[in-house]
Amino acid sequence: MPKKVTLPKWLLKLMRTRDMTLEQAYDFVRKHGFKVSIGWLSMHKDLWKPKRKRELVFREEDKYLDSDLAKRIMLFKGKHLEDMSEKKHFTAKDLEKFTERTPEACAEFARQCLVWKGKPIELQDYQLKMIEGWLGPKPTVYPIGRGGGKDFTLAVFLAWYLTVNPGTRAIVICPAQRQVKTFIHENLALLFQTSGVLYDSIEKFIEEEFRLTNGSVVFTYGATSFIKGKHHIDFIFCNEAAEIPEHVFENVLLPMLGSHESKGHLSIIGVPGGQQGYFWKAYQDSSPDINDPKAKFYRIQLPTEVNKYYSKEQLEMNRRLMSHDVFLQEHMAQFLDVEGALFTQQIIEMMKEDYETRFGIVDNKKQYYAGIDWGRTGSYTVVVILSYDPKEKFARVEYIQGMRKAFPEQLAWIKAADNIYNFKCLMVERMGLGIPPSDELRKDLGSRKVKYFIPSAKIWFDAFTHLRDAAVNNKLVIPASELKLISQLRLLSFKIKGEHITVKSEGKDDYAQALAIAYWAIKKRGRAGVAGKL
Ligand SMILES: Nc1ncnc2c1ncn2[C@@H]1O[C@H](COP(=O)(O)OP(=O)(O)OP(=O)(O)O)[C@@H](O)[C@H]1O
Ligand SMILES: [Mg+2]
Repeated sequence: MPKKVTLPKWLLKLMRTRDMTLEQAYDFVRKHGFKVSIGWLSMHKDLWKPKRKRELVFREEDKYLDSDLAKRIMLFKGKHLEDMSEKKHFTAKDLEKFTERTPEACAEFARQCLVWKGKPIELQDYQLKMIEGWLGPKPTVYPIGRGGGKDFTLAVFLAWYLTVNPGTRAIVICPAQRQVKTFIHENLALLFQTSGVLYDSIEKFIEEEFRLTNGSVVFTYGATSFIKGKHHIDFIFCNEAAEIPEHVFENVLLPMLGSHESKGHLSIIGVPGGQQGYFWKAYQDSSPDINDPKAKFYRIQLPTEVNKYYSKEQLEMNRRLMSHDVFLQEHMAQFLDVEGALFTQQIIEMMKEDYETRFGIVDNKKQYYAGIDWGRTGSYTVVVILSYDPKEKFARVEYIQGMRKAFPEQLAWIKAADNIYNFKCLMVERMGLGIPPSDELRKDLGSRKVKYFIPSAKIWFDAFTHLRDAAVNNKLVIPASELKLISQLRLLSFKIKGEHITVKSEGKDDYAQALAIAYWAIKKRGRAGVAGKL
């Protein structure tokens, strides 16, 4: 009998999976050594990594704070309560200034009452212009590049307007619930919660409603969820408007504004999504002159770089990594005419569903597939995980992982994922820098499971049209919140070169490619077992 020890879990696992007694398991390890996959090891670090002992030395002043851990951690991280704007007592004159209906009043309010990252907010000039539009008589259309400060400006505007105009009723619509949540939690509510003078002004803060003590309220919806009709609406903000279906504008939003005596304001904001849909229509009927009598909408169109808080390095990196069209759309806020688009607005609407992707949830009735687009220098490797219901022939994007790490770490992640999903087929793009990791993965997981996708104009065309067929036949859904994937799909187009039809893609459409590869894998499925190996 071996000595009495606490058995490590891997040993127990070995006994269980190979049906061994303890002695047999020890013998097995003695003879063969014990190899577990890198993925398994990386997921169970706590089982095999020796724990480092750390001695915590408390400073004298810290000792007294242990009954308030929240505060202690705040101090530990070097943060102080000054992060919250101080409590103030404003004079009647201050209040008068705040309640004027001008962009400057909003700017003054932001300066005196709101903080962002510990500092008072100073609005940028273009943000004042956006606010001027929202206060004006015309509906507004604001195509603005990614990271241009759309959410931020809207949150500051709403914080001010709701506070100084009791009983205001506004609606904010985003394409998916997740974006609505992000907007409320990370922008609007945060402004109130970090402000010493507004903290107590929140009365109710639930999923679909953000209400202040003065009766002002913001209703928030994902565009694909059921939008309850509301009356007496002062503002409707459509955020990421390219992803809001046209019928939602026509059948749900516009009628709501019609019922207001003084007519509510409609604002359409977002990164453009091609020359289609309501966003594009509104844009065509717009003018940058706020007083132009011929145009229905007032327009402000801005590239990302107007926001001085957006990192220049990031912008330059994106310029290199994104395909030309994607950059024009995402950062220059251009409405592109995608001739011969593969995935039109309509097809994308058919594919989109409002759900959250979650890692590691396995349904044993389904099969799992993964598609991998290896990162070229400095760019992401993208892994798309699909579930597939063989009875219904129905696929769903379960998870998307972008990784900017060294290949060994990426391989470890992929193998860990395989431990959970037990992919029926894992298809990798085998080309250039992606050849070594593709081969290594095949060596480790076997050629039955790991299939190569060897890119050529023809196979890309086949894979994308196969994906498109699935979309058109309602055999595939993707999460509405994955804007990167959606904007890349939208910009893919057919091109005819001589006798050949190809898909226009500069090899930088990593999310769309990983999805096409994952879906192609279903066609070329391997012969692994059922899901849920671990
Ligand atoms: N006046 C300002 N003061 C401080 N920070 C600012 C200001 N304007 C913009 N920012 C910063 O710029 C960021 C812009 O991000 P925001 O999410 O609002 O942009 P976005 O246009 O909605 O981006 P996306 O297209 O990715 O949704 C803000 O989170 C904020 O940190
Ligand atoms: Mg945004």
